[in-house]
Amino acid sequence: MTGAAPAPALPDGATTGRHLLILGGTGEAAALARGALARFGDSVAVTTALAVRPRNPGPIAGEVRIGGFGGAAGLADYVINHRVDRLIDATHPFAATISRAARLAAEGTGVPRLVLRRPPWRRHPLDRWIEVDSLAAAALLVGRVGQRAWLTIGAGPLAAFAPATGVRFVVRLIDPPRQQLPLRYCQVVLGRGPFSVAEERHLLRRYAIDVVVSRASGGAATEAKLIAARELGLPVIMVRRPPPEPGPAVETVEAALDWLAGPGGLPQATRMS
Ligand SMILES: NC(=O)c1ccc[n+]([C@@H]2O[C@H](COP(=O)([O-])OP(=O)(O)OC[C@H]3O[C@@H](n4cnc5c(N)ncnc54)[C@H](OP(=O)(O)O)[C@@H]3O)[C@@H](O)[C@H]2O)c1
Repeated sequence: MTGAAPAPALPDGATTGRHLLILGGTGEAAALARGALARFGDSVAVTTALAVRPRNPGPIAGEVRIGGFGGAAGLADYVINHRVDRLIDATHPFAATISRAARLAAEGTGVPRLVLRRPPWRRHPLDRWIEVDSLAAAALLVGRVGQRAWLTIGAGPLAAFAPATGVRFVVRLIDPPRQQLPLRYCQVVLGRGPFSVAEERHLLRRYAIDVVVSRASGGAATEAKLIAARELGLPVIMVRRPPPEPGPAVETVEAALDWLAGPGGLPQATRMS
C-alpha cells in the first residue's frame, strides 16, 4: 500500500509541511478549501481532489487534483507520497465508493480523517415522501405513483430508471447530456442551482409533473423543489442516503475548520496588526 515514491512532494507553492487533502466535488468542499486558506494562511497547503474536471468549474482555492486515485490503496499512496497530514472527505453524501476508500486509506496510513457531510433535509408534516433505499427501488415504484416524473439526480445514475418505460421523465441537468439518455420518454431541462421555490413551482406546473424523484442529498441549493412539491401536494419518492462511513463527522465547514485547528492541528494564520 505504501508505494515507493522517490521524493515526497507537496503541491506547488506549499511553504510548509502541513498538507490538507480535501476530497471534493461539492460546494462545501470548495468553501472548505477557501476557509482553510483564509484561516490557516501559509501554514497549510490545500489540495482539493475531484473525480473529473468540471465542465464549468467554479474557482477552487489552493491546488486542484483531477482524477481517481485507484481505490483505497492508491489514495493511501497519495497520502504518503504527498505528505498529507489531514484528510477531509467532503464528497457528496451519495459518493459511497470514495468515502469508503478515504476511511480505509486513513486507517492504513494513520492520517487523521474527518467527514464533512451536509445535514439531510428534514421532513415536514405536510410532505408526501415515500422513502426508499435505492434508485432501483425508486424506479420500480415511480410508475405506480405517477406518469410524469421530475428527476433531478444528475445524468450518471439515470440508467437505473430505464426499466420505468411507462413514465415520462423530465430530467434536470446542469450541462447538456454528452450522450443520449437511457430513458424511453424524457425531456431535458437545463439549470444550475440554487433554485427558488417560485421557479420550482413554475416548472412542476409547466411540465404537469405528478411525482418528484429525489435523493436525500440535503443542502439549501436544491431544497426548493421539495417545498414546491409540498405546496402542490405532490408525492416525492425520496432515496435514502447510503450508510455513512464510521468515524468523526461534522455538518458544517466551520466545524471542519475547528477540527483542523484542534489538538495537534494547524496553527492559525498570523495576522499583522
Ligand atoms: N453522487 C452524486 O450524486 C454527486 C453529486 C455531486 C457531486 N458529486 C461528486 O462527484 C464525485 C463522483 O461521485 P460518484 O458518486 O461517482 O462517487 P463514487 O462512486 O464514490 O466514486 C467513484 C470513483 O470516482 C473517484 N472519485 C470520486 N470522488 C473523487 C474525488 N473527490 N477525488 C478523486 N477521485 C474521486 C474514485 O476513483 P478511484 O477509485 O480511482 O480513486 C472513486 O472510486 C464525488 O467526488 C462527489 O463528491 C457526486
